[in-house]
Amino acid sequence: MSLLKSAHGGNTREAAALLGIPPEQLLDFSANINPLGMPASLKRALIDNLDCAERYPDVEYAHLHAALAEHHHIPSSWILAGNGETESIFTLVNSLKPRNAMIVIPGFAEYRRALQWGECAIHEFALREEDGWQLTNAILDALTPQLDCLFLCTPNNPTGLLPDNHLLQEIAKRCETLGIALILDEAFIDFIAGEQGFIPLLQANPHIWVLRSLTKFYAIPGLRLGYLINSNEQAVAHMRSRQMPWSINAFAALAGEMILRDSAYQQATWKWLEQEGKRFDQQLKNQPGLTVYPGLANYRLLRCDRAGIDLQRSLLEQHILIRSCANYPGLDARYYRVAVRGEEENNRLLAALSLTLNGTALAD
Ligand SMILES: Cc1ncc(COP(=O)(O)O)c(C=O)c1O
Repeated sequence: MSLLKSAHGGNTREAAALLGIPPEQLLDFSANINPLGMPASLKRALIDNLDCAERYPDVEYAHLHAALAEHHHIPSSWILAGNGETESIFTLVNSLKPRNAMIVIPGFAEYRRALQWGECAIHEFALREEDGWQLTNAILDALTPQLDCLFLCTPNNPTGLLPDNHLLQEIAKRCETLGIALILDEAFIDFIAGEQGFIPLLQANPHIWVLRSLTKFYAIPGLRLGYLINSNEQAVAHMRSRQMPWSINAFAALAGEMILRDSAYQQATWKWLEQEGKRFDQQLKNQPGLTVYPGLANYRLLRCDRAGIDLQRSLLEQHILIRSCANYPGLDARYYRVAVRGEEENNRLLAALSLTLNGTALAD
C-alpha cells in the first residue's frame, strides 16, 4: 500500500508531515516538473506585471488563444484554454457527456474522476507487464460501437511510453468509424524533441480532441495552464459558452501569451533531457534489483524486484520523495515513478537508491 493518501505526485506537505520535517527539506522526485524552473523571461514579466492582479482578465482570453493558435498554426477558434489541463479534462467530459468511456490502465487518475461526475460506465483497457506496458493493437478489438469516448495519454503517465504512430492512426480510424470521440492527452509531449503529436492531423479528424498542459514543460504548476483543441469550432464554441468565466488567472494568461515563443528555453530543456535523461537511465539500470522502463518524457517508471523493500519509505527516510504507483489500477506496490531532475539531484536519488538496494553508497 502507498504510504501517502494523495492520488498525485508532488504532495510534499503530506510526506514531510509523516517525517515531522518542513516540506522544503524534501527532494521531490514525485512530480514531473521541468527542473530548469520557469523561464526567466516569464519570471521577469510576472514581476513587471504584478498590477494585472488588479484587473479582470479578458473573459475571452483573446490574446492567449491567439498565441496558442500561432504556435500550433491553427485557428484560435479550435482552442479553449483552461486552468491547467485538468480543467480542460473536466470541461470536455462535462460537454461530451459520454455514457460509455474507455480508459487505459495504468493511467492518469483525473480521466476517471471526471467521468465519474456524470452517468458514465467506465471500461478499462489494461496494458500488460509482458508487453513492457506498451499499448498494442489488442486495443483495436476492444473498441466497440457501444463506446462513445476513448482516453489515451501520449506519452502515457506513468509509463512515459509513446504508442507506435501507426497504431495510433489505426485507433483514430477505428474511432471515426465507430463514432467514438478520441481524446489524446499530450500533456508531456513537448518534452519529446521533434514530436508533433496529433495537432497537425486535427483538420481532417473532428472526432479527435487533443489536450495539452503547459504546467510541466514550463514549470508553472502553481500558475496552471492547459488547453483543449478540436477542429469543430461549433463544438469548441459550445464548450467556451459553458466554461466558468475567468477561470484562468491573469498571470497564467500572460504566461501562455509569451512562453511558447521562448525557443531558447525549449532548446535548453531538450538538451538537458537528452543528456541527463540518458545518463540517469544508465545509472538507474546499473542498480541491482530495479527494472527501468524506457520512458521518453521527463519521468521513469521503475519496478523494484527485491521482495520486502518499500522504496518510497526507505527513500523518504533519506528525505527523498518518489511516487509510489501502488494506487494506480493496473500496477502494484513494486512500481514507482521518478522524475528526471538535474544532475546533482539525480545523483542524490541514485546514491539513496544504491544505499537501499545494495546497502552501500555509490562508488564515484
Ligand atoms: C497525464 C497528465 N495529464 C494532465 C495533467 C494535468 O496537468 P495540469 O497541471 O496542466 O492540470 C497531468 C498532471 O499530472 C498529467 O499527468
